[in-house]
Amino acid sequence: MTRDDVLQKQKQFLFPCVVNYYAQPVVVDHAQGRHVFDLDGKRYLDFFGGILTVSVGHCNEKVTSKIKAQVDRLQHTSTLYPNEAIVALAEKLAKITPGRLQKSFFTNSGTEADEAAVLLARMATGSFEVVALRHGYSGHSLIAKSLTGQAPWRRGGVVSLGISHAMNPYCYRCPLGLTYPDCGVACAQDVEDVIQTTTSGRIAAFLAEPIQGVGGFITPPPEYFKMVFTIVKKYGGLFIADEVQTGFGRTGKKWFGIEHWEVEPDMITTAKGMANGVPVGATIATPEVADAFQGMTISTFGGNPVTAVAARATIEVIEEENLLENSHTVGAYFRQKLEELQQKYPLIGDVRGMGLMLGLELVKDRKTKEPAPQELGQLMERTKENGLLIGKGGLWGNVVRLSPPLNIGTADVDDAVRILDKSFAEVKV
Ligand SMILES: Cc1ncc(COP(=O)(O)O)c(C=O)c1O
Repeated sequence: MTRDDVLQKQKQFLFPCVVNYYAQPVVVDHAQGRHVFDLDGKRYLDFFGGILTVSVGHCNEKVTSKIKAQVDRLQHTSTLYPNEAIVALAEKLAKITPGRLQKSFFTNSGTEADEAAVLLARMATGSFEVVALRHGYSGHSLIAKSLTGQAPWRRGGVVSLGISHAMNPYCYRCPLGLTYPDCGVACAQDVEDVIQTTTSGRIAAFLAEPIQGVGGFITPPPEYFKMVFTIVKKYGGLFIADEVQTGFGRTGKKWFGIEHWEVEPDMITTAKGMANGVPVGATIATPEVADAFQGMTISTFGGNPVTAVAARATIEVIEEENLLENSHTVGAYFRQKLEELQQKYPLIGDVRGMGLMLGLELVKDRKTKEPAPQELGQLMERTKENGLLIGKGGLWGNVVRLSPPLNIGTADVDDAVRILDKSFAEVKV
């Protein structure tokens, strides 16, 4: 098929709500390592990784060879039969997750992992209500959309029964108009206010992303989650860290984002980067929480031997190649380069994030902080033209999301920054 054939068939046969980037979408043909190639053979440096999913490079040989071997040995069982791949992955997750998280439930996506976590929290606590954060994103099912705190992702009759949203710790646009650290992280107190005023006073859970992904890599001050944890416990809730974007070394040094904030969650949900692009998600809980599940459940594809092997292989590559450290050091180098770009381009209002999860919030004016989504649209087109794939996020569509594979080096960062620099210079402001 030609590029035009693909685009024409996409229009004819796919739901139009599944949006593409760019005026002329990139029709991807193949990929290797940090590069993606379109149908016409044009090469792009991929600094978005299929939405923070390609953790160890496209088509990583160490991962794909194990997938191929598993496909030839055993492709599917359903969860009705135990298999070596699923228990080996669960054991691995028990080792690398923080605190007492020991038992896993496997799903096909982050959405389902969040659904399972909320259901389990309700069963384990006997309470119903859940507190989430504004600007958060949890997926595309009804509960996940209800947990989501951004209007564009909530349309279509979402019923947020038993779900409330607290202020998010968005320091660049503090919802209380305060400045860190003088604020004393006052936004954390809003979680208690929300519990006291919008719930029955006992909650099943608090669910949040350690760094809000789709929200635009909004990074809380270090004290925030510790303070919230104390509040959540006071009202009987479980603390669920949604690590769908921040998991598996993305934030540098640690396996999971929440570990930076010194909180031991009762559950972690994860997907995306877990298996380098093979669809698998997981809800990982402490034994007593996991054991509280009532009745029966099934996930036909959850923990499928092929996806389980892909996830374990991805984790092993991260371990063998010391990518938690690489994400931290190369991320720090990248951040410094982005801050240099910020000095040069007034359009860049804020540089934030951790490890190799870095965001640039674009504003028309640094004083008014008016969001600059049109300028980001231009930047996207220019970077595409210049051979770099980047992501977009934020409630107003004005945040650049940068999330290359964890095994890139500083030379790749230099390439990306050179293209970003050229592309920013081409944006008409
Ligand atoms: C933090 C977070 N949670 C949940 C999801 C939903 O994951 P999926 O798209 O795999 O259903 C996403 C997807 O972007 C996410 O970013």
